Amino acid sequence: MTHPSPYLMNAWYVAATADEIGTDGMLHRKILGTSVVLYRSEDGSPVALHDRCPHRFAPLSMGRREGDALVCPYHGLKFNSAGACVHNPHGKGVVTKALAVRSFPVVEKHGFVWIWMAEEAADHALLPDYSPLDEGHENGVARTYMKLPVNYRLILDNVMDLSHVDHVHGEIISTRGQLSPLFPDVQETESTVSAAWEWQQTPPMLILNQFLPRPEEEARHWIQVNWSAPGNIQLSLYCAQDDTPVKEGPGQYDLHSVTPEDEFSTHYFFATRRNHIEDDAEYNAMKIRAMHDAFENEDGPVIAACQREMGERDFFAMNPVLMSNDLAAVKMRRRLQGLIEAENSAAITLEAAE
Ligand code: FES
Ligand SMILES: [Fe+2]
Repeated sequence: MTHPSPYLMNAWYVAATADEIGTDGMLHRKILGTSVVLYRSEDGSPVALHDRCPHRFAPLSMGRREGDALVCPYHGLKFNSAGACVHNPHGKGVVTKALAVRSFPVVEKHGFVWIWMAEEAADHALLPDYSPLDEGHENGVARTYMKLPVNYRLILDNVMDLSHVDHVHGEIISTRGQLSPLFPDVQETESTVSAAWEWQQTPPMLILNQFLPRPEEEARHWIQVNWSAPGNIQLSLYCAQDDTPVKEGPGQYDLHSVTPEDEFSTHYFFATRRNHIEDDAEYNAMKIRAMHDAFENEDGPVIAACQREMGERDFFAMNPVLMSNDLAAVKMRRRLQGLIEAENSAAITLEAAE
């Protein structure tokens, strides 16, 4: 990677949902501007290789699989799952060291395949832990993927600032105007920023009220978003009535995870686990479809239009008017930028010393 990099490199990004990568076929996906081919080896473990043959740069994903190896579609070089060339059908069949493709460390966790794109050795301690997604009935959790034509920060801003909910989204997650006036409780560390909102509304949020004792009556609500660098936001939403502590009422534990395709296009991954009617497969399928639709057809068009207005300009350089609802998103952006700049200046120092 050339420096300065616009991305935080020493980090794990979601490359795909586990379901997107099968034991047959290959998945091409551009990640942080680099073409990657993803597949599963015959033992089921995920593999990620640079999707570019070192000969004349044909994407290997256009070729074919031979067991765990990939055969280039153009002149037939064959590469194993570690990226080493194992067959050259040309001339004397010499295989030099240069005849190799880069392989990227991947880990399957929480129903996603996470990829390490930095040249530095993968740091497994940096893999985030969202284990509540894994706890409970298999029909109580669902995942989805979409691609949005925006810089990934616009999606992070959107989730960090939930004051948009009543203005952008439909009836089922309306807070009846309660959320926008609130100042969230914002907390931060070097690589995390969280914001929490608490309010009461009547009727309660329609995605949850049918699971409350009295669906039409007032309930206390609590939402928290918790960003971790570079692109993960864990969101929790609960509501309760009477003496039930709010976090023990009906609710859900979600993960929004963004991976830049490039600077102006983003892979948007989402997972949600609920604590009610957990075994209901039909409800699970309906709910993830509704949430996917809300992100793609309600948030998506607004932030894509913002991106078109912004063009390739930097957000802060455009002098945005900031309001009370921007606090968590602005802190998140500053933390992220600080981490990217620190990584870039460490890389420059290292290059200068070499
Ligand atoms: S481009 Fe792959 S073998 Fe020629
Ligand atoms: Fe939204």
